[in-house]
Amino acid sequence: MSMQIAPSLLAADFARLADDAYAVSETADWLHVDVMDGHFVPNLTIGLPVVEALHRHARLPLDCHLMIEQPDLWAVQYAEVGARNVTIHAEAVSAPIRTLRNIRAAGARAGLAFNPSTAIDPYEDLLSEVDMLLLMTIEPGFGGQDFMDLVLPKIRRAREAIDGHGGEIWLQVDGGVSEHTIERCAEAGADMFVAGTAVYGSDDPAAAVKMLRDLAEAAARPNPAT
Ligand code: DX5
Ligand code: ZN
Repeated sequence: MSMQIAPSLLAADFARLADDAYAVSETADWLHVDVMDGHFVPNLTIGLPVVEALHRHARLPLDCHLMIEQPDLWAVQYAEVGARNVTIHAEAVSAPIRTLRNIRAAGARAGLAFNPSTAIDPYEDLLSEVDMLLLMTIEPGFGGQDFMDLVLPKIRRAREAIDGHGGEIWLQVDGGVSEHTIERCAEAGADMFVAGTAVYGSDDPAAAVKMLRDLAEAAARPNPAT
């Protein structure tokens, strides 16, 4: 399983977004962009114009995580301004199948996100409609929070569901992912890792990405002794 690392620009310097994006161009796979509307989560970040500008300058594909009310209305527009992956929250979407299909029709990968307390079981029949599941390992809204171990069993169940489904669906974790927690996530079956503080809080963001990837790859490798 190949591991992907998506540094979260939420922990970058918002006045130097392009520079901070370039800092990880050589070692990361994606740039994770947290869109928050001050309603679905109690924080306000960036919206369409900034994502459009980032798309013009960034050298990595944009992974837009929409923590907004009414993703049914907005998601497709993020795909249209260049996001390569658009993730909507199960808790916020009214018509998930239609919205996921609209994201794909606009040329992006479609992601479905779950807060720590939201069960994935009711959505298992929708796996054919998604390219990625995002399991939040914190309550969404802010970076720098502690990783929640209580999500690990859900990561394992999601991995089983994805493997049983058969298609190529990525399993992303977001929140408190660091050198101390990424191995637990990889062992449980995650293959795409969002990291904000662990990357941009480091003196060398590019090296931090590489270290996270090495740890995830080593943890995901089956132990030959077992
Ligand atoms: C929080 C965001 C995360 C955030 C993670 O709601 O979805 O992407 O940037 O930040 P860290 O890695 O610092 O927990
Ligand atoms: Zn996020």
